[in-house]
Amino acid sequence: MPIINLYHMKKVLMVCLGNICRSPMAEGVFRQLAAVAHLDVFVDSAGTSNYHNGEHPDKRAIACLKQKGIDIENLNSRQFIIEDFDNFDLIYAMDRLNYRYVTDMAKNEDQSQKVKVLVEEFPHGNYEEVPDPYFKGAQEFEEVYDLLHSTCQMLVTKLKSEFRLLN
Ligand code: 4NP
Repeated sequence: MPIINLYHMKKVLMVCLGNICRSPMAEGVFRQLAAVAHLDVFVDSAGTSNYHNGEHPDKRAIACLKQKGIDIENLNSRQFIIEDFDNFDLIYAMDRLNYRYVTDMAKNEDQSQKVKVLVEEFPHGNYEEVPDPYFKGAQEFEEVYDLLHSTCQMLVTKLKSEFRLLN
């Protein structure tokens, strides 16, 4: 009997406004948690704006994750493009505003269904969104890390259970 692996490696895109704070942090945290769980995923991040195109993540985001053993220093900011709807299975917006920016670009229901607000899908405390730390300080980056760690762990658990159901 041939062994058919029905699991299709999920491709996950994290999206925020500038792609220098929240979404590269989400990318790094999710990639690390997936690796620990031996979950095969492809992860990337993008911004809905082009404000920081080509830049590395914010120094405070890099420093925050460095303390946790996660290296995002070499990531580069890029803007969300229409092709991302085809290239990714799951698109997680860090907040409602960016959810709206992305879904406004969707050409059909299939595309807009791929987009979710991360904290709505994986609730944590009283948060409704991942708060924007850009105009804040190190403490807010730490808060973003805690929230991302918790929600991304829930995403890993969900994808692991889908993998088990299919295999
Ligand atoms: P991010 O944070 O969307 O989490 O990357 C921001 C980065 C830059 C700006 C706003 C938010 N900005 O206005 O330049």
